[in-house]
Amino acid sequence: MQISSFGERPVDLSDALAHVPGSTAHMERARRVIPRGMSSRGRLRAVPVAFDRGKGAHLFDVDGNEYVDLVMALGPMLLGHNPEAVIEAATRQLGKGLQFGGQSLGEVELAERIVQHVPSAEKVLLTNTGSEAVQSAVRIAKGATGRRVILKFEGHYHGWIDPFFVNSPGVPAAGEQHGLIPVVHNIAGQPTSTDVLVIAWNDVAEFDSVMAERGDDIAAVIMEPIPFNFGTMHAAPGYLDHVAAETRRHGALLIFDEVVSGFRIGLGGAQELLGVTPDLTTFAKAIAAGFPLAAVAGTEAAMECVTSGPVTHGGTYNGLPFAVAAAIANLDYLSENAQVLYPRLEARGAQLADGLRRVADKHGIPVVVNQIGSVLQAFWEPQMPVENYADAAESKAGPIAAINELVLAEGVHAAPRGIKFLSTEHTVEDLERVISAYDTAVGRYLG
Ligand SMILES: Cc1ncc(COP(=O)(O)O)c(C=O)c1O
Repeated sequence: MQISSFGERPVDLSDALAHVPGSTAHMERARRVIPRGMSSRGRLRAVPVAFDRGKGAHLFDVDGNEYVDLVMALGPMLLGHNPEAVIEAATRQLGKGLQFGGQSLGEVELAERIVQHVPSAEKVLLTNTGSEAVQSAVRIAKGATGRRVILKFEGHYHGWIDPFFVNSPGVPAAGEQHGLIPVVHNIAGQPTSTDVLVIAWNDVAEFDSVMAERGDDIAAVIMEPIPFNFGTMHAAPGYLDHVAAETRRHGALLIFDEVVSGFRIGLGGAQELLGVTPDLTTFAKAIAAGFPLAAVAGTEAAMECVTSGPVTHGGTYNGLPFAVAAAIANLDYLSENAQVLYPRLEARGAQLADGLRRVADKHGIPVVVNQIGSVLQAFWEPQMPVENYADAAESKAGPIAAINELVLAEGVHAAPRGIKFLSTEHTVEDLERVISAYDTAVGRYLG
């Protein structure tokens, strides 16, 4: 028997592990040469799975098991695994050359599309990952304002690059604190940066008091306009408008980190959905259907310090032609089929959320499921109502993680932390299978 503790109760993972002998051997080998056996810590799980290939909404592991995938690489695979039109476009471009070290037609065509779709975008810079896009946006804000302080919200995730890898999911919540929240670095022992201030999300009084005290030092207020990383929930009505207006009144820039929401929530992202526009926006993930591409889009005014000022945006691999070709094919497919695809993503998201809530009711477990479009988040006994990170962090991570390990043996690949991403390729039948798999896994968890 392989008993693991997930905080709440011991869980027998024997069946789940027996399912993946090849993956387990692969993981042991990986640990000999790769710290923890993974190149990204967010992929770690108690039951290791090594994948061989993916198609549509499905993944296949080295043991030959098939899974309905609810991870979708944590966001990029909006069109599913191996979307044909995108792969074809990238392959065509690869045949013409990997990199040129100069301008190429695709880069302009992609920037034009982003400007066309995203309400606040007038100028666009390309890079490779969401973390780099955040780094660039923050540098631009510092250049534009001549200030160096960034205000962030607790629980919002802006990538793994210092100094923004603080107070995001994975570190203890600050609990009942009011006003400024002490900076808690996600890496133990790492010095904290004096450039970052952290406050609670969704609290107008706290925001106003920090702006009154420090607003004139603040270069930018950065946020996930829909905080998918801790909750998949909307801010209180009027909150974003208020934050946007006050940020500007103090001469700071507003940065929307749309690395998750961009092109997933709609072609115009969260800013179009919510009707609030930032000065700068970061994109990655769903912009290029799985290829390494990210962007910073900004207003003409915000970008002025890059256009004719001293701020540098640079990188050998920025705007890789094959990734740019993939992004163009992706955005064209999304825009040509938007009337069908986005309502379908919403319907599938609602189907899965309803099904998971039914499973929770049937078993009498205290699970709350949030859903916005194609993203879901399950909490075990959060502080209700979930309005900010401290409420979400009251929930128990252990049972959610345990159930997401047990569901692997039922043919579902889901992230231990409870976030779920759907693609345009998930069918009604896939999701019925997922709901019944959770029914079985919850039954096993409860013993
Ligand atoms: C909102 C947000 N910003 C930034 C990032 C960092 O992106 P990347 O992992 O591509 O560096 C992420 C990644 O999950 C994210 O969710």
